[in-house]
Amino acid sequence: MDSPFVSPLFRSLFHRRAHLRLRAGLNGYAQRRNLMGFKLPVAPDSDKNTWQPRSTFLQRDRSDEYERYPMVTAQQLATRTERPKRVKMLVRDFIDDSLYNPNYGYFSKYAVIFSTPHAFNFPALIDESDFQRNLGEAYTAFEDALDAKHPSDIRQLWHTPTELFKPYYGEAISRYLVENYKLSLFPYHDLIIYEMGAGNGTMMGNILDHIRNTDPDVYARTKYRIIEISPSLAELQRIQASQGPHADKIEIVNKSIFDWDTYVPDPCFFLALEVFDNFSHDMIRYDPETERALQGVVMIDKQGDFHEFYTPHLDPVAERFLKIRSRVARPGFQHPLRTPKILRKLREALPFTPNLSKPEFIPTKMMGFFDVLRENFPAHKLLMSDFHALPDAIEGVNAPVVQTRYKRTSIPVSTPFVQQGLFDILFPTDFDVMDDMYKALTGRLTRVMKHEEFLKSWAFLEETETQSGDNPMLNWYKNASVMSSV
Ligand SMILES: C[S@@+](CC[C@H](N)C(=O)[O-])C[C@H]1O[C@@H](n2cnc3c(N)ncnc32)[C@H](O)[C@@H]1O
Repeated sequence: MDSPFVSPLFRSLFHRRAHLRLRAGLNGYAQRRNLMGFKLPVAPDSDKNTWQPRSTFLQRDRSDEYERYPMVTAQQLATRTERPKRVKMLVRDFIDDSLYNPNYGYFSKYAVIFSTPHAFNFPALIDESDFQRNLGEAYTAFEDALDAKHPSDIRQLWHTPTELFKPYYGEAISRYLVENYKLSLFPYHDLIIYEMGAGNGTMMGNILDHIRNTDPDVYARTKYRIIEISPSLAELQRIQASQGPHADKIEIVNKSIFDWDTYVPDPCFFLALEVFDNFSHDMIRYDPETERALQGVVMIDKQGDFHEFYTPHLDPVAERFLKIRSRVARPGFQHPLRTPKILRKLREALPFTPNLSKPEFIPTKMMGFFDVLRENFPAHKLLMSDFHALPDAIEGVNAPVVQTRYKRTSIPVSTPFVQQGLFDILFPTDFDVMDDMYKALTGRLTRVMKHEEFLKSWAFLEETETQSGDNPMLNWYKNASVMSSV
């Protein structure tokens, strides 16, 4: 009989960062205290104009600690080697610190991106199940090899389409870039490609190989620059670049895009593949009575436990996001107060109802990224791809999936307030809202399409088709979309 972990593990292999809700197996190392799900009315705190806990029921009054602890940012925490205690911070800073802290952050310390030495030979495979079987074996071999050198129960391993469908996926992107370059820039400008968040550096190698093999004139004028936040991934990319044939075309800048301060006047393409999903978000809840937005702050106490608070004093970044969205987003975007007021009133009248709306996660960092593009890359053309939906997300509008991997098994949890660095926190992208905000902030026009549609336009599909006619590159990642500047 299958062990209870076999099916979850198997599924986790085939959907990057698994979609399974497994409650067992935390063994105390991961989830600390879960504050979601209290369902009783709030007795408002005396200082409610300044802040309020989400629910006071069953919680000790922590107001004195909240007042005493200093407010810190992810940037201030970047030099710390240990996870902070006795502090409070905006949820966006907590997520940023969890994912990117140079000393204990997920991407800096724990993330490993699956890769195979060779491409899969899709036409030799019987069907999609055969591909899954082969991929499962490759995953095990990859991790066995890592364990032989450095055994780890908490290795955070996952995969992306770039890796699974190499080099064909990269070649599709390369065709898009070269075609668009030739249409508007060649021969007056070089082909300059910026890739933000390049993972193992596989896309870089695939694109440069393809341009060299198919268009030597364009290759002669190509430059490839990576902007990578993670020191360990930047190092991997440097090794990849120095060992390959394109070293003189490549530059790797190890910094966050949010620290970018060089003005790039040249026309360039800006690639971002599965990077937006890890851009930090702010957490907002609404007072159902007044419809006022309150911003989430997380307090970490002296034991390292997490406590959620909400303040009606929005910081300028969250306030700006909500203002711009209300002006430029097409009507009908998802919102926690979308339910008609009468239904909300009825719901509030029920016993055991929370005092605030369910949370909404707003992509404040995405807005900051568009500012960077406008200010520093005025002649860019963006090509980004990411998930428009994520199954098994935590509660809320635009809410993330939060999950860790323990002994090769993915374990999703129901709150982002878990031990920093050991959990991936990835958000779906609302492509309509993003599209409207991008246009408003950069003044550029866009095209949004499904991942599958993009690949049908730019890939040689026979290269990823199995004997049965199944095409895993088209069938997987149906929950991803692509946005490009036109
Ligand atoms: C999910 S991985 C995707 C990797 C690669 N694009 C792929 O598709 O295989 C996200 C990548 O973005 C990087 N990243 C995340 N936030 C970043 C930021 N603010 N600036 C630069 N790189 C970032 C991560 O370190 C990682 O390399």
